[in-house]
Amino acid sequence: MTIPTTRRAVIAKKPGGPDVLSIENQKIPALAADEILLRVRAFGLSRPDVLQRLGKYALPPNSDPVLGLEVAGDVVARGSAVTMGIGTSVCALCNGGGYTDYAIVKAGLTLPAPRGLTAIQAAAIPEAAFTVWYNLFDIGALGRRERVLIHGGTSGVGSFAIQMARAQDAIVFATAGDERKVEACKKFGAHTAINYAKQDFAEIIRRETNGEGIEIIMDMVGGDYFAKNIDCLAMDGRLIEIAYLRGAKVELNIDTVMSKRIMITGSKLRPLPMERKARVVAHAHKTLWGWIEGGKVKPVIDKVFPFTDIRTAHAYLESGQHIGKVVVEI
Ligand SMILES: NC(=O)c1ccc[n+]([C@@H]2O[C@H](COP(=O)([O-])OP(=O)(O)OC[C@H]3O[C@@H](n4cnc5c(N)ncnc54)[C@H](OP(=O)(O)O)[C@@H]3O)[C@@H](O)[C@H]2O)c1
Repeated sequence: MTIPTTRRAVIAKKPGGPDVLSIENQKIPALAADEILLRVRAFGLSRPDVLQRLGKYALPPNSDPVLGLEVAGDVVARGSAVTMGIGTSVCALCNGGGYTDYAIVKAGLTLPAPRGLTAIQAAAIPEAAFTVWYNLFDIGALGRRERVLIHGGTSGVGSFAIQMARAQDAIVFATAGDERKVEACKKFGAHTAINYAKQDFAEIIRRETNGEGIEIIMDMVGGDYFAKNIDCLAMDGRLIEIAYLRGAKVELNIDTVMSKRIMITGSKLRPLPMERKARVVAHAHKTLWGWIEGGKVKPVIDKVFPFTDIRTAHAYLESGQHIGKVVVEI
């Protein structure tokens, strides 16, 4: 296999709308000992990419200025410490640098693509599914038959969260903003799906749980959802924050925390130290790959765009019409 010296990569020249994205020719950087060069077949788009393009994402140090947090492709070259075979089809979590035809990825964040999946499906997994794994399973320790509430049930993250919680045999509640999305949540396996635009989710949860509440909530909304989430939590419940689409500043009555013995936590996957991120990927690999290969969890692909349509792809993701993941094929 010939190893190229240049690549095409997407950068945002300045903060702004999808038009600030451009595809540039770049020299491919040298590989470090723990890195792999992939010929990218497909990459996934995630909401944090949109925030980065808008200049609203605090980038961790040493982030690649090329956008993109997840790729699937074939190994074409490897650093001296890497054993992964040349030609292996893989998917990888990236610290930026995914929107390109030749991506450099860390071996510790790279896994063989699940058997039976296309590159498009494999590219849709890492950022969303590992975020779910880290938050619901590593941090949240979601147990069998526990009740879990997933906000943003049809987001890329939400579509995995519902299916992964079902694979764990949890009782799943989900919210979404219209009837089409509510139906999708049910199709992914939610026992109860709530249209938050028409119904008060806290009221429905109180009713459906006979006033007991929910053991674990994964929230990406924040703002006015915070008080309702606290209200919905069962005794000893856990609230896990992964984003704050409606605002980061909230008010909390500490007495409720004490009385219900609740835990409030959250995380950001991208700035995790490399060793910790690699642990998340390894843990997810052990269980999630079986769920995917066994058909219990399926990447939900909404739309696939060609590489040269990256601006249209971004505008589409930003519009919020999608259900599941938006992917670019190279
Ligand atoms: N902490 C981490 O490590 C981490 C990692 C990855 C992603 N994230 C965050 O997780 C979220 C999902 O990411 P993604 O890539 O899967 O995004 P996505 O597919 O673009 O989905 C965004 C979701 O947000 C929902 N939403 C938007 N505005 C809302 C509002 N005002 N109230 C309630 N829901 C609203 C939309 O659902 P409706 O149309 O139903 O409103 C949609 O399902 C994003 O906020 C992202 O920043 C966090």
